[in-house]
Amino acid sequence: MRINPFRTLQGKFTLYLSLLVIGIIAPLAYRNISREKVLMEDAIIREGEALVESLAISCTNTMLYEEIGLVEEGGLLDNYLSDLMQRKDLNIVYAMILDPRGSVIAHNAMKEVGNLYQDEVSRKALAAWSTVRQHPSAATLDISTPLAISTKRWGTLRIGISLESLNNEVSTLILKYVLYSAGLIVTAILFIAFLFSLITRPLRSLAREMDAMPATGDLPSFFPARDDEVGILQRSFYRMLKRIREDEKEKERIQRNLLLTEKMVAIGKLTSGVAHEINNPLGGILNSIYHFKKGTLSPERQREYLDLMEDGIKRIQKAVTNLLEYARNPNLQQSAVDFESIIGRALSLLDYQIRKSRINVEKEISRDLPSSLKMDRDQMGQVLVNIFLNAIQSMESGGTLRVVATALNGQLITTISDTGSGIPKDLLPRVFDPFFTTKGEGKGTGLGLWISQGIVERHGGTIHILSNVGEGTTVEIQVPIA
Ligand SMILES: Nc1ncnc2c1ncn2[C@@H]1O[C@H](COP(=O)(O)OP(=O)(O)OP(=O)(O)O)[C@@H](O)[C@H]1O
Ligand SMILES: [Mg+2]
Repeated sequence: MRINPFRTLQGKFTLYLSLLVIGIIAPLAYRNISREKVLMEDAIIREGEALVESLAISCTNTMLYEEIGLVEEGGLLDNYLSDLMQRKDLNIVYAMILDPRGSVIAHNAMKEVGNLYQDEVSRKALAAWSTVRQHPSAATLDISTPLAISTKRWGTLRIGISLESLNNEVSTLILKYVLYSAGLIVTAILFIAFLFSLITRPLRSLAREMDAMPATGDLPSFFPARDDEVGILQRSFYRMLKRIREDEKEKERIQRNLLLTEKMVAIGKLTSGVAHEINNPLGGILNSIYHFKKGTLSPERQREYLDLMEDGIKRIQKAVTNLLEYARNPNLQQSAVDFESIIGRALSLLDYQIRKSRINVEKEISRDLPSSLKMDRDQMGQVLVNIFLNAIQSMESGGTLRVVATALNGQLITTISDTGSGIPKDLLPRVFDPFFTTKGEGKGTGLGLWISQGIVERHGGTIHILSNVGEGTTVEIQVPIA
């Protein structure tokens, strides 16, 4: 059987473990990445500030010397800036010197010289009397420092450092963490799959073994169980199956005995009656035979004894006929009954046999059947049981038992058909005879149909059988609804 992979234990475990891995790694990664970013940024800042501050000294000196005329104006400051721009360790994007009003004195881009800078960053830089860090954009760090000695100020040195490479490094770090967690999750999934295969493989094979157990009959006496927890399960499954089988067998035995007892009761009634009614005339006949054997009888006496014997035999014949009639003729105890429930009860009595022979039962009770009919519930039930049983016994390897009950022209018509072995044409006229059976010794009494016919006739009805060998048999019962 295929199960949705997310509903398997393995699927659930994998999902939860993956969430756990992500839940642990994500905050850890976030913390590490943030810390790493701060450290890298700090390094850039420290280096940038050291650079700016050391260069500021040279610039201040130069400007001082220029003012007092020790060096010639121009050139030196531009050289410092262009040297600065050459540095490869820091990604410097601009370097400039502003005079105290914001006018550009020197710039790495020559065309900027002379421009007046009034923007927010420039104003803050000009106003500060110490080194200042600013972020004109997310990817740029601006470091500025005053060019001053004591309170005398010549201007401000500003450099811009690109943080792009830092941001790139952070992105790489994030990617690394994502790959790392993905790797961890894949490893976890593989590990869980492996662990689960240790459990699910034997479980699946246990299920297969259980499915392969024969549906009926004896179980294999030896059952190879594993040496672990699954083995415990295997053994207890096997024990359970065995108990169920034993229960079934016991039930079958009880049912068989029950049917047998019913038959014995029927035979018992008949034979005891026969014994009683037959024994007396038999005594007379035996007595006559005894006298004949002695050979001392006169012709008149011989005639007399022969008449006696004839009389006795006639009495026996009559007794047998009467007894047979009597056996079929107990009084009916009619009451208003629900015919459908009689069918249901008869079927439920035979439930075990039906299931055992894997017989499919179809029931079709017409809607226009009166809800209560006048009949002898027990005897009609017996008729159905007899006929159902014949049908079941004719379908040893399965088939369909169909019961249809309808009302037509004041008659209750019940047809019971099977898809069993059928009855050969030459035997069909004899099936209602008492003691006619084709079932082996001790299996059938041959009274089932005979008794059923008697009961149906006493209800004023008729019973017919149609049958084809190899196709099945249909029994039709008609009783008046009155
Ligand atoms: N549905 C059927 N399919 C095939 N054969 C049947 C069917 N019904 C009756 N017969 C034949 O008719 C015979 C007589 O049936 P009946 O029910 O009277 O006796 P029985 O079934 O042999 O024995 P008992 O009913 O006492 O167990 C059966 O032995 C069987 O050969
Ligand atoms: Mg029978």
